[in-house]
Amino acid sequence: MGGGVRRRERALLIRGKRVLVTGGAGFIGSHLADLLARDNRVTVLDDFSVGSENNLGATGPVGVIRADVADRKAIRAAVEQADVVFHLATVCLRVSLSDPVRTHHVNATGTLEVLLAARDCGVERFVYVSSSEVYGSARWVPMDEDHPTLPTTPYGATKLAGEAMTFSFYHAYGLPAVIVRPFNAYGPRSHIEGPSGEVIPRFVERALAGRPMAIFGDGGQTRDFTWVEDTVRGIVMAGECDQLVGDCVNIARGEEVSVRRLAELIRKVTGSRSPIVHLHARPGDVRRHHANVDRARDVLGFETTVRIEEGLERYLRWLDGHPAVAPVNRIEEIRNWEASTAPA
Ligand SMILES: NC(=O)c1ccc[n+]([C@@H]2O[C@H](COP(=O)([O-])OP(=O)(O)OC[C@H]3O[C@@H](n4cnc5c(N)ncnc54)[C@H](O)[C@@H]3O)[C@@H](O)[C@H]2O)c1
Repeated sequence: MGGGVRRRERALLIRGKRVLVTGGAGFIGSHLADLLARDNRVTVLDDFSVGSENNLGATGPVGVIRADVADRKAIRAAVEQADVVFHLATVCLRVSLSDPVRTHHVNATGTLEVLLAARDCGVERFVYVSSSEVYGSARWVPMDEDHPTLPTTPYGATKLAGEAMTFSFYHAYGLPAVIVRPFNAYGPRSHIEGPSGEVIPRFVERALAGRPMAIFGDGGQTRDFTWVEDTVRGIVMAGECDQLVGDCVNIARGEEVSVRRLAELIRKVTGSRSPIVHLHARPGDVRRHHANVDRARDVLGFETTVRIEEGLERYLRWLDGHPAVAPVNRIEEIRNWEASTAPA
């Protein structure tokens, strides 16, 4: 991947296009579909293993294809109808720890299948949504795109395999592909429970219920939390940028927040007095993530707009307006799930 890019350039306007979003019924994918549906004909391809139809259609109608991303025939039929492909369908990090084989099948082989279809159908742009997890723990901060890629989980390894395959399709077949590396996203529709559950919704659920907020390890581990609407705006800007074809870009706020500080901020915004407790560190947990966002700023003119404190407030307001998903109304359901998955 080349570095040293220092010029703003957006060439392929994604307007009036037929856009396919794999994994588009999930957390980030559904926000991406919302943004793209304002100006394009969007189709979401998802197997709904995690994603939900309830996430779809907030800003305009989207087509839906229920299919496995590794199903060659289904993928080919979907990509044939698209000018631009955003590929997000993924098995998540925690599932990858217990099922690396399935994770490899979906994340690595699935990406290869989408790439083959994109190459053969001659799409105008292929955007691979990768992850900061490809870096593993920071060797230096902030982490630029040339930081070593040494993933510490099967998830990170399979996301990196997808990147390598995408990069190879650019070189070997001239596929106009862009790789985006988002750091941790948060906001509406993020997963509260189950293996896809994320730290912010989980902490908020516990804070609202007055239950202990459980930190894995000492809480000194850091993440670069990014409001999901900023994340998807960055993904689209990267997809429109000719200069990033054959290259990758970090999409993040560029601010390092420890999990301990996050728990304290959530206590503050919820007005909760939940205790903070510490559990054993999780295997493969990244210690530090802090993005260098120079390339996104200099090449795309991308800046985030939402500070973590404001994002947490916004997330709480969203939960207020969505009582059906608000964790405080689902405490029993979440407890039952936790009880059913607790180690014997
Ligand atoms: N959430 C984050 O903080 C974050 C950070 C960096 C990168 N990412 C990347 O962003 C993308 C979306 O992540 P997310 O957090 O929205 O996850 P998500 O689990 O909400 O979305 C993934 C979607 O893929 C679908 N899916 C899973 N297996 C599939 C299959 N075999 N065929 C078709 N669809 C399948 C799921 O049903 C789900 O809707 C992923 O590529 C992920 O690696 C996420």
